[in-house]
Amino acid sequence: MSAKEIRPATGKLGILTPGMGAVATTFIAGVELSRRGLGQPIGSLTQMGHIRLGKRTDNNSPMIKDFVPLTEMDDIVFGGWDIFEDNAYDAAVKAGVLPAAQLEGARDFLEGIHPMKAVFDQKYVKKLSGTHVKKGENWMDLAEQLRQDIRDFKEKNNCERLVMVWCASTEIFLEKGEVHQSIEAMEKAMRENSDQIAPSMCYAYAAIMEGVPFANGAPNLTVDYPAMVDLAKREGVPIVGKDFKTGQTLMKTILAPGFKARMIGLSGWFSTNILGNRDGEVLDDPESFKTKEESKLSVLDSILQPELYPTLYKDLYHKVRINYYPPRGDNKEGWDNIDIFGWMGMPMQIKVDFLCRDSILAAPIVLDLALFMDMAHRAGMSGIQEWLSFYFKSPQAAAGLYPEHDLFIQLMKLKNNLRHLKGEDLITHLGTEYYD
Ligand SMILES: NC(=O)c1ccc[n+]([C@@H]2O[C@H](COP(=O)([O-])OP(=O)(O)OC[C@H]3O[C@@H](n4cnc5c(N)ncnc54)[C@H](O)[C@@H]3O)[C@@H](O)[C@H]2O)c1
Repeated sequence: MSAKEIRPATGKLGILTPGMGAVATTFIAGVELSRRGLGQPIGSLTQMGHIRLGKRTDNNSPMIKDFVPLTEMDDIVFGGWDIFEDNAYDAAVKAGVLPAAQLEGARDFLEGIHPMKAVFDQKYVKKLSGTHVKKGENWMDLAEQLRQDIRDFKEKNNCERLVMVWCASTEIFLEKGEVHQSIEAMEKAMRENSDQIAPSMCYAYAAIMEGVPFANGAPNLTVDYPAMVDLAKREGVPIVGKDFKTGQTLMKTILAPGFKARMIGLSGWFSTNILGNRDGEVLDDPESFKTKEESKLSVLDSILQPELYPTLYKDLYHKVRINYYPPRGDNKEGWDNIDIFGWMGMPMQIKVDFLCRDSILAAPIVLDLALFMDMAHRAGMSGIQEWLSFYFKSPQAAAGLYPEHDLFIQLMKLKNNLRHLKGEDLITHLGTEYYD
């Protein structure tokens, strides 16, 4: 196999986040603390992962970051937008994810990061109202202002390349409609201020038009429709989404493939959560919750394939609840009651109680996505990056294809994509029985 040409990762990479709340500030603080030798980027495949090449006997498993040309952490600069004016340090203290004593180690750095004015409309996030917001004639005008922000940031920070990762609040549920079917219809709707266009779409549009890869960390529609996919392809820009796979859904996509692998049946899966951060408050609104609920519910069906295994999974009752409970802050608790059945239909139960720190699981995903999306762009890839489905609750798939949710298949896909890019043999896991 011949390797694909990947432009080297020279110069600075700017990582722009719409939203500078718990996830974004935990990510930024963590990268800076790692750079200062005050912490480790645990959970990040790009920083800690290895990839096996060739046969097992070759004993060749370099680090991923040594195998493909990724931007070094030292070459990253940060920017973003928020509807609140807090600098990244104040926002991180308010989010309360990393302890104050640890944040102190990067305080000077974080205090220097000030959000730009956001594109925001309360109609799309009912529970929030902020003052640090742009004014414009219509969505297109606002997107043009974002494009100017992007150009200014790039110049001011002497960046060679940029990527954008949506870390802002979950918007209300929007159905795909006519305006989302073609680039022309979408641009017309933006100029006419259609309510089918949401702020997140303005950021995505601005990013793509500026040649900036875009990843969507929330379950919003944002780039998951034909017009945006076509635009990304036309402009030669990678896009990916949606909704970072952390916490309860991560557990689900670890456990469910195991049950299916052993042909264990499932009759019920009840998942409930309490969380008290701003994300929890936003999700307390039924319309934002609906966006999240759709995203969380979708994973089991595609892993279990009830159409192929009706005896085992046809009657599965799957329910997801999220409750806002301020005392817990970012330290979510997620319970799963799983009703399974085995040989002769005998029922059994599994209880999972995950005392999780959501943003601690999300921060490394932001880093990996930014670095991989930048590399994909340098490799000339554009449109939906299915190989990054590993990081998402609702991975975007090409039209007509179903997304892959099984974490282990997703990881294999990701690593095989890297091997393919570098012209290495793909790993099939065939045993020695087949070789001399
Ligand atoms: N933490 C996780 O594990 C996790 C997992 C999956 C998805 N997510 C999603 O990631 C997003 C961020 O989560 P978080 O915990 O950091 O939430 P957060 O509420 O702490 O931060 C979101 C920030 O976005 C800002 N914001 C809202 N609308 C904006 C806009 N239009 N432009 C710019 N800024 C805007 C808010 O003011 C807030 O500061 C949420 O949508 C959440 O659902 C988080």
